[in-house]
This record gives sequence, C-alpha cells and structure tokens, in this order.
Amino acid sequence: MTAKRVFSGVQPTGNLHLGNYLGAIKRFVPLQDTHDCIYCVVDLHAITVWQNPQELLRAIREVTAAYLAAGIDPKRSIVFNQSQVAEHAELAWVFNCVARLGWLNRMTQFKEKAGKDRENASVGLYAYPNLMAADILVYRADAVPVGEDQKQHLELTRDIAQKFNNDFAAEIAAKGYNDGYFPLTEPLIAGPAPRVMSLRDGTKKMSKSDPSDYSRINLTDDADAIAQKVRKAKTDPEPLPSEEEGLKGRPEAENLVTIFSALSGRDKAGILAEFGGGQFSTFKTALADLAVESLAPMAGEMRRLMADPAGIDAVLRDGSNRARVIASKVMADVKDIVGLLR
Ligand code: AMP
Ligand code: TRP
Repeated sequence: MTAKRVFSGVQPTGNLHLGNYLGAIKRFVPLQDTHDCIYCVVDLHAITVWQNPQELLRAIREVTAAYLAAGIDPKRSIVFNQSQVAEHAELAWVFNCVARLGWLNRMTQFKEKAGKDRENASVGLYAYPNLMAADILVYRADAVPVGEDQKQHLELTRDIAQKFNNDFAAEIAAKGYNDGYFPLTEPLIAGPAPRVMSLRDGTKKMSKSDPSDYSRINLTDDADAIAQKVRKAKTDPEPLPSEEEGLKGRPEAENLVTIFSALSGRDKAGILAEFGGGQFSTFKTALADLAVESLAPMAGEMRRLMADPAGIDAVLRDGSNRARVIASKVMADVKDIVGLLR
C-alpha cells in the first residue's frame, strides 16, 4: 500500500505567529512519519490583497525558513512555493468553472477580509477558495492539516471534487477511475490548539493582520518581547480555576491555558491542578518561560537560514520540480476528462 498524501499551505504575508505554529506548522512535522507530505508557501494566495513586492519575496523565504526550522525535512517532504508550479493556477481556472457563485457567496473569510468595501475587493480574493481547492486536488491529496478557520474552505474543496466527479462521471469511468477522479479530502483540524485567540481579545482569533502587535506572539519575537506580551495579555480579575469547567465563559483565561497545554504537551486538567487558585502573574511567568523555551531555538534557526537566501531558493526550486511532476500528470488527466486538446 502506498502512503496517503498530505498537502498544506501557509501564506507569505508577514508576521508568522503562534496560531500558525500551533494550528498548522507544528502539526506538519509528525505527519512526515506516516504520510507523503507536500508543504507549500502559497504566494498566489498572498497577492489577493496588496503586497509590497520586496516584502513578499522576503516573506516567501521566511515561511520556508519557518517550515525548515520547525523540523520539516525538504528531502523527505516536498517544500515549494505555489507560483513555481503553474498547474495550481491552471486547475483553479477549471474550478472557477465548476464552483457556483452561490457557494462562494457563503464564504465567511471573504466577508471578513473584504469588509464593508466589498466592491473594491480583488476578484482574486473572491475566487481564493477555488485556488485553494486546486492546490489540494492538483495532488489529489487525501488529507489537509489546517487551523479551525479553514474548515469552510475544505468543505468547499470537497463540494468541488464531488461536482467535478459527477459532471464528468462518464469520462472519468472511461479513464478507468471507478471511484471518481478527485478524492473527498479529509480536513485534519484536531490538535490541542486548532484556534489560538488574540492576546488582547479572547473572542478574536490571533491573526497576522491585527494592527496590535501585542495581540500575537510572532515566531521571530525575542525573549523580551514574548515575556512582555504574555505579561500584558488580557485576563479577567478572577484567579485561574482549578478545574476545566471553570474556564467556561472566560475566553482569555481559556486561551492562555490552551497555549500552555499545546506548548508543553500537558493536559489542561494537570495545568489547572498546578496553577488553579493562584495569581495570574505566577501562571503568566511560567507561560512566558515556556513560550521562550519553545520558540527561541526556532527563531534562531530561522535567522540562520534567512542569512542564506540562495540556500532557501534552492530548496524551493528542488521542491517545485518534484511537485510539478505530480501536478502535471493530474492536469493532463483533467484536460482529457474535460475535453481540452493537449
Ligand atoms: P495563514 O496565515 O492564513 O496562511 O494560515 C496558515 C495556517 O495557520 C492555516 O492552517 C490556518 O488555519 C492556521 N492558523 C492561522 N491563524 C490561526 C489561529 N489563530 N489559530 C490556529 N491556527 C491558525
Ligand atoms: N487558505 C489558507 C489560509 O489562509 C492557506 C492555504 C492556501 C491552504 N491553499 C491551501 C491551506 C491548501 C491548506 C491547503 O490559511
């Protein structure tokens, strides 16, 4: 039996943070032991909103450095940037013709990102979920590890796969595929912290685009910055509860305990048994130490890798060449199935 295939992507839009790490990148690493993994820097997704070109190029290398520093092995897995494999954009066009306007109109991330001035959002931002479906399906990936916020996009990916399989059922069967051409890809949203919240507001997710840098811990923050952000993190006036039940309705406290749990690998019950009833400041000091201890080596490794951009570019070029081998076969099949001459 061949190993199942995993695909995931992170946008190079600056400010990689603890949510990206715990919700996604950290979870990419152990999957390498059980799956064939493809990890992508999704630069074409990034340009759906304006990016400064020099900054974009730097951010593409920085996400790559974060992948490598976290423990993704570019020999075992495929690590590459999306724009070097043209098949992503090519399949996205076919999917633009499969997905329905009504489906995209329901996407909450578009509504959030476009905000009030929807008329002025790029067409790319609107069609973004179709490109994401193409990223995944151009490798016919079985599973996709992501944070909670991507759940709706993965449901759309399955809808697109299913409609394609139905619309072209006869052609797909004639090619010898008895179970449809595209798999119904499984979302992997588990993990201890699928949704890390802002340090300033426990009801909002931690995000790259929050104007307050105090809302997030960046993967490149130094020890002082991390300690200060944890110390200033919003909490309520009550002490920490001794049991999980007591976290209900206290989103800031719950978020900090979740982060502690995800970084330490300890369960919440044990953490609350230790810190419950005590001062928040004692817990925050322990959390800051833990965060520094967990993130500082990675930040150091990222800096080391970033000092050699040519080395990073070589990894991406090699990964792109290997990705293209898989993607071009799938794209050739799609052309045959749809009735395009090649
Ligand atoms: P993005 O930065 O939007 O490209 O997201 C990259 C990955 O990080 C995706 O799998 C997201 O679901 C995940 N992610 C982003 N923000 C968070 C968060 N606050 N908590 C957990 N996962 C997140
Ligand atoms: N939309 C994802 C995000 O914002 C990034 C992404 C693009 C992605 N293509 C993907 C994630 C394919 C998983 C699989 O986080």
